[in-house]
Amino acid sequence: MNKITIAIDGFSSTGKSTVAKQLAKHLGYVYVDTGAMYRAVTFYAMENALINDNRFNVKGLVSQLPNIEISFKFSEVAGYAEVYLNGVNVEKKIRTLEVSGFVSKVAAISEVRQKLVDQQQEMGKSKGVVMDGRDIGTVVFPKADLKLFMIASAETRAKRRYDELTNRGDDIKYEDVLKNVQERDYLDSNREDSPLVKAKDAIEIDNSNMTPTEQFDKILSLVNMTL
Ligand code: C5P
Repeated sequence: MNKITIAIDGFSSTGKSTVAKQLAKHLGYVYVDTGAMYRAVTFYAMENALINDNRFNVKGLVSQLPNIEISFKFSEVAGYAEVYLNGVNVEKKIRTLEVSGFVSKVAAISEVRQKLVDQQQEMGKSKGVVMDGRDIGTVVFPKADLKLFMIASAETRAKRRYDELTNRGDDIKYEDVLKNVQERDYLDSNREDSPLVKAKDAIEIDNSNMTPTEQFDKILSLVNMTL
């Protein structure tokens, strides 16, 4: 069957990765979580003392980019490809609120974006891919066959992220998660390089009041119309 490229963009915690994983599984496609790649670079910067609450050594990070290798490996247990930083699985470590607090600053650096966008284009060049992020339909695959743009209220999104983090045992406050979601919305939408905007030909999906099943059914019908 004809393989297509599906680009899913939108604000933080809009359920992009949930539906992207479901679609990839259903269609037998590759799923690429591009947010995980920006998070892995951020984690590298934190581990190597290039970023903390008081300083951000942008030059240092840019000069170390050739030493940062990001890859994905399918996990039978998880049911999707997990992210590796220089050969080490960092899937869990990149999801902390601390990484979330720095990632949008790292993602605003053009050199970081160029490196990751090149890799993303390489990963998706044979089609049969579902990629989620902020600039997939605008920059990475402007000719994607199907582009979705996910939205939901900041409160709905913060509640979802809060539940996700507390369910895995993180000790966090809802207010901090909400603040982080709002801050990232602002930084991601207002950066100079590849800001988060809806591509002209993207279909907007507001899932504030949809269950994951309703959302999946709606999006699958759009996919079937595109195939
Ligand atoms: O998708 P997730 O929330 O994990 O993404 C983390 C951050 O990575 C975003 O807030 C954004 O700053 C950055 N990002 C990006 N471009 C992408 C994917 C993520 O700038 N394609």
